Amino acid sequence: MAILKIARMGHPVLLQRAEPVADPTAPEIRRLVADMMETMEDAMGAGLAAPQVHVSLRLFVFRVNAERASGDAQDTPMSNSVVINPELTLIEGDTRLRWEGCLSIPGLRAAVPRAWRIRYTGVDTDGKPVGGEVTGFHAGVVQHEYDHLDGVLYPTRMTDFTKFGFNEELIRAGTI
Ligand code: NI
Repeated sequence: MAILKIARMGHPVLLQRAEPVADPTAPEIRRLVADMMETMEDAMGAGLAAPQVHVSLRLFVFRVNAERASGDAQDTPMSNSVVINPELTLIEGDTRLRWEGCLSIPGLRAAVPRAWRIRYTGVDTDGKPVGGEVTGFHAGVVQHEYDHLDGVLYPTRMTDFTKFGFNEELIRAGTI
């Protein structure tokens, strides 16, 4: 396993539409996913998409830590998970501002409008289906990571630029 170098905002790979994974069960995909999980943990992130490690493929890893889960029945803690070739459907009617950061935009955090409830599908490295209907943090992290596969970074989604800042200033101000 290896810790991978994370592309930061400004790198063109973050603005590309990523390509579908031809064979999710291929050994090189399994290795990439293992390395991405290790990289996410090392960086203390909640999610990491392949373009963020300079690989323009449609897959991402994520986790839902107990302290981040909203407590909803469909937003429970999850250990490291992978979604390959995801499809995402936003369930309209409840959009909420959620604080999020990005390992490609280090040190910053913003309140971003996201659908509270989504449905998503994909497969894991055994080719088994993953996903379902989820809410809260789980729904937010999947929307954020899915955006990376379309070359979209969270500042594009922002509507209130007063809720955007450096982590330490936001904490000092009591905003987050
Ligand atoms: Ni990100």
